[in-house]
Amino acid sequence: MIPEQEFRRVLGHFATGVTVVTTIGDDGKSYGLTATAFTSVSLQPPLVLVCVDKCAESHAHFLTSRVFVVNFLACDHEPLSRRFAVSGGEKFTDLAVRRGMTGAPVLVEALGYLECKAVEAFEGGDHTIFLGEV
Ligand SMILES: Cc1cc2nc3c(=O)[nH]c(=O)nc-3n(C[C@H](O)[C@H](O)[C@H](O)COP(=O)(O)O)c2cc1C
Repeated sequence: MIPEQEFRRVLGHFATGVTVVTTIGDDGKSYGLTATAFTSVSLQPPLVLVCVDKCAESHAHFLTSRVFVVNFLACDHEPLSRRFAVSGGEKFTDLAVRRGMTGAPVLVEALGYLECKAVEAFEGGDHTIFLGEV
């Protein structure tokens, strides 16, 4: 099996977009994390997927709410990506958001966004693969 460090090093050479994936908890609070493990899957029906680390604090909230928003970041959103790459805490303080149709938060300054309902949650090693209908 490939050593973890080597796996990470090689993956680091794959240029990809950066997203902030958000959801809403049972407590009505907003949760989210920076994620590059996002891809479009299908046009008809419109499906995307996002992989969420089972150790992430927000993971449980994605599992229970079954809704999420994929917010696309622009080049000048590095501070946003850093904010959402830190585990826990008050990531949404002083951030312009609005509730989407699902109740999950949309980042107002996002380049674009997709509101999704998770139609499947697959095992993906130490991640859960959420298949979302847009
Ligand atoms: C560039 C970048 C990409 C990331 N992509 C993912 C990802 O696709 N899935 C994931 O679960 N975590 C990813 N992470 C890590 C999470 O953003 C990080 O673990 C975050 O602190 C989780 O927040 P939480 O514990 O509050 O849920 C990424 C981090 C960075 C900096």
